[in-house]
Amino acid sequence: MAVRAQVFYNILWERGRGMTDNGARPSGEPAIRTIAMPADTNPNGDIFGGWIMAQMDVAGAVAAVRLAKGRVATVAVTGMAFHKPVLVGDLVSCYAAIEKVGRTSITVRVETWIDRNRSGDSYKVTEGTFVYVAIDDEGRPRLVSAPA
Ligand SMILES: CC(C)(COP(=O)(O)OP(=O)(O)OC[C@H]1O[C@@H](n2cnc3c(N)ncnc32)[C@H](O)[C@@H]1OP(=O)(O)O)[C@@H](O)C(=O)NCCC(=O)NCCS
Repeated sequence: MAVRAQVFYNILWERGRGMTDNGARPSGEPAIRTIAMPADTNPNGDIFGGWIMAQMDVAGAVAAVRLAKGRVATVAVTGMAFHKPVLVGDLVSCYAAIEKVGRTSITVRVETWIDRNRSGDSYKVTEGTFVYVAIDDEGRPRLVSAPA
């Protein structure tokens, strides 16, 4: 493996290692953190799934924009799963880990965890994989350059 490619790989591994498959909360700081508000509820009184997906999209974009050093557009979402409801007042944390970097695309795995102060509960509520494309000022795909 060329030195530059090895360095790039190491950086990706370093960024993604907070995420595990063993059900543990990712280490490190979430890409975004917010509080679920009454205005974000669905007719059942739980938090609307579309609102949670929007938070996840922002969290993934934070990671992608950093790597792309500029604008990105979401091109696909796969493997989206809603495991448990989010309630008003929950502290919502979205963790993002870069999984793959292509020519112009960046694939980011995002997990959402909540902290519920009333009960002391803390668990993963959603996960999904978001694909972003680095775009130029005209909205056309542009090459993602490896970090120096
Ligand atoms: C993002 C966009 C500019 C890409 O343009 P495009 O002509 O489809 O680009 P390409 O076909 O060259 O694909 C670009 C990259 O995206 C990947 N890609 C495209 N569609 C994909 C999909 N459905 N799933 C996964 N990857 C996809 C391609 O594999 C390619 O990756 P690579 O360069 O790393 O190999 C265009 O699709 C677009 O503007 N989409 C709307 C974006 C949007 O409005 N998002 C919501 C708001 S941000």
